[in-house]
Amino acid sequence: MAKEISNGVNHGTSKPPPTPSPLRNSKFSPESLELPSLFSSSFWMDLHLLCFANLRILVTGGAGFIGSHLVDRLMENEKNEVIVADNFFSGSKDNLKKWIGNPRFELIRHDVTETLLVEVDRIYHLACPASPIFYKYNPVKTIKTNVIGTLNMLGLAKRVGARILLTSTSEVYGDPLEHPQTEEYWGNVNPIGVRSCYDEGKRVAETLMFDYHRQHGVEIRIARIFNTYGPRMNIDDGRVVSNFIAQALRGEPLTVQSPGTQTRSFCYVSDMVDGLVRLMEGDHTGPINIGNPGEFTIMELAQTVKELTNPSVPVNVVENTPDDPRQRKPDISKARELLGWEPKVGLRQGLPLMEEDFRQRLAIPREN
Ligand SMILES: NC(=O)c1ccc[n+]([C@@H]2O[C@H](COP(=O)([O-])OP(=O)(O)OC[C@H]3O[C@@H](n4cnc5c(N)ncnc54)[C@H](O)[C@@H]3O)[C@@H](O)[C@H]2O)c1
Repeated sequence: MAKEISNGVNHGTSKPPPTPSPLRNSKFSPESLELPSLFSSSFWMDLHLLCFANLRILVTGGAGFIGSHLVDRLMENEKNEVIVADNFFSGSKDNLKKWIGNPRFELIRHDVTETLLVEVDRIYHLACPASPIFYKYNPVKTIKTNVIGTLNMLGLAKRVGARILLTSTSEVYGDPLEHPQTEEYWGNVNPIGVRSCYDEGKRVAETLMFDYHRQHGVEIRIARIFNTYGPRMNIDDGRVVSNFIAQALRGEPLTVQSPGTQTRSFCYVSDMVDGLVRLMEGDHTGPINIGNPGEFTIMELAQTVKELTNPSVPVNVVENTPDDPRQRKPDISKARELLGWEPKVGLRQGLPLMEEDFRQRLAIPREN
């Protein structure tokens, strides 16, 4: 049974996980495998599952930026079968094209606000637009995705006895009054602002995860993701790293939202995927912060992109959007201690990898 670490307390009040359906047991469940006695502890069991067992894994939102990198990682293990359910609102089939046709891979056009019946062992629940441009486009749909979508995935997890991981967000901390943010901090979120459909939606999704865990014994994992960047981000999605790289490549001024001293931390996507898989296969429910604690002001980020990508573009300061948090930096002590995880890729290593991907998609070859 996973250890609850919410607020640093191990409550130990939750029910055991529900029994998986017989259909799933017949092919994929660990009970159908003969395990040597060495694998008796839950740690060895999880390691065994990760390395040797057949798992059928559902990734909602798997056609998106983080989801498609996660799928790449899960498909590397030839014993895994991966099912992606995505409505392609902000994701794209292109991100998954190398797996289409692979017998271990299935892609379903599906909206998570509708129920889904599949027999799986793991659910990585990522489906939700993550960039402000996308999530503010239809705020009612965004909150439905977070609330009804998470309810549907928890219902599925309960029915088939799957373990479910929610990709929550550092936005649950709002405009934080504590710095850096630990998992114990309850946040400072505006419940009626233009970003609330996302921030409050994720907060309710976390609540639902813990209620299903306590009431129904569903095995849950919650990752609180901090800003992540890398190849396959939507080029014009309004997120700061993609904005700056696209602007620098197009020779446009880099637009820094005022005052430019607000800080963010940036995690490269391969580090993020590693953290998510460790959390899923580890022993702890979370919530656990996963992000890079290296802190940069937005102005520093703009100057770094300018230096690495196009030193001739100017940097302009423009008006800010409402409720933009002033500071963001994860405390990742729990991820270090409980998952043995910390980010490896620095900003100056990661930005050129993303630039290369943007160059190809924008058809802007490198000069010289
Ligand atoms: N990228 C980040 O910096 C970041 C930070 C914090 C949290 N997260 C979380 O990580 C997850 C993935 O984010 P991302 O950056 O890859 O975003 P993304 O927009 O690239 O991916 C989201 C995916 O979900 C799909 N989707 C949206 N609504 C859906 C619905 N109703 N039904 C089915 N599919 C739907 C989209 O089509 C897309 O493929 C999200 O849950 C997001 O909240 C991301």
